[in-house]
Amino acid sequence: MKISRSRCLIISFILMCGLAPEVTADVEEASDDLSTTQEPIWLTDIPATQELINASEVAIIGFFQDVEIPIVSVFRSMVQQFQDISFGISNSSEVLTHYNITKNSICLFRLVDNGQLHLDDESIENLDAAKLSRFIHIHSLHWVTEYSPLIAAGLFNTKVQTHLLLVMNKASPEYEESLLRYRKAAKLFQGQVLFVLVDSGKKENGRVISYFRLKESQLPALAIYESVDDKWDTLPITAVTVEKVQDFCDGFLKGTVLRDHRAEDAGKEEL
Ligand SMILES: *[C@@H]1O[C@H](CO)[C@@H](O)[C@H](O)[C@H]1NC(C)=O
Ligand SMILES: *[C@@H]1O[C@H](CO)[C@@H](O)[C@H](O)[C@H]1NC(C)=O
Ligand SMILES: *[C@@H]1O[C@H](CO)[C@@H](O)[C@H](O)[C@H]1NC(C)=O
Repeated sequence: MKISRSRCLIISFILMCGLAPEVTADVEEASDDLSTTQEPIWLTDIPATQELINASEVAIIGFFQDVEIPIVSVFRSMVQQFQDISFGISNSSEVLTHYNITKNSICLFRLVDNGQLHLDDESIENLDAAKLSRFIHIHSLHWVTEYSPLIAAGLFNTKVQTHLLLVMNKASPEYEESLLRYRKAAKLFQGQVLFVLVDSGKKENGRVISYFRLKESQLPALAIYESVDDKWDTLPITAVTVEKVQDFCDGFLKGTVLRDHRAEDAGKEEL
């Protein structure tokens, strides 16, 4: 697994704060849905493969020299679990050569940070459905990724060091419209800022919200942080607009952070 490990990150603390039970719940929930019979897209040439990668927020492609090996059926079984991910499979030597594949590999391509993760031969050998499903859950970052304990581990494994959270109740009437605008803004910051949604209606997200010292009355709000030096800032908002999100991100990236929380945090033990 070629994954660059980034440093200590706010979210990683949150992950370590005993949220493990929800992790299993997520996986079980996802594997319930086996009613439809979908298959990965069979990729026989390079343009078709590029097109799938270019057109998908997250694409997962199995490059196999031999499609009779056991991992191939495990791979195929993932398609039903992940409806918002494109699955492809290829055994074309032309395609494998183009992607520099010399051994059986499962590769995840995502647009949000132009990230590519590879599971190579050795890791594939011992892979079962639960492990592969967990890998996909963790690393499938979208334009807007909903926060969960599993995804927190994925946020820890990207080269993008600035993360923006929209903290909002998904049950609120403004949610749909807000998400559309938030998503639109996300595309403007490809490779620069990762956009995350935190559903404030979920009790288990309380830790994230209180970490940023946001009160119920201040929501919805934006929270932005830098994983390297623990800089962060928040902005309570009444409505999400592309401009507002853009200004907030630009300001933070330029270093015009409103407050420096590092000093404040020095006396704080942990979450
Ligand atoms: C996919 O994107 C790459 C890089 O942006 C580009 O070179 C290639 O032409 C695109 N291919 C297709 C089929 O859209
Ligand atoms: C790819 O797999 C298909 C289906 O099993 C098989 O018919 C074909 O010969 C394989 N192609 C290569 C290049 O191995
Ligand atoms: C394959 O490897 C070559 C040489 O390292 C590199 O230039 C090329 O971009 C790689 N191809 C892909 C699709 O990653």
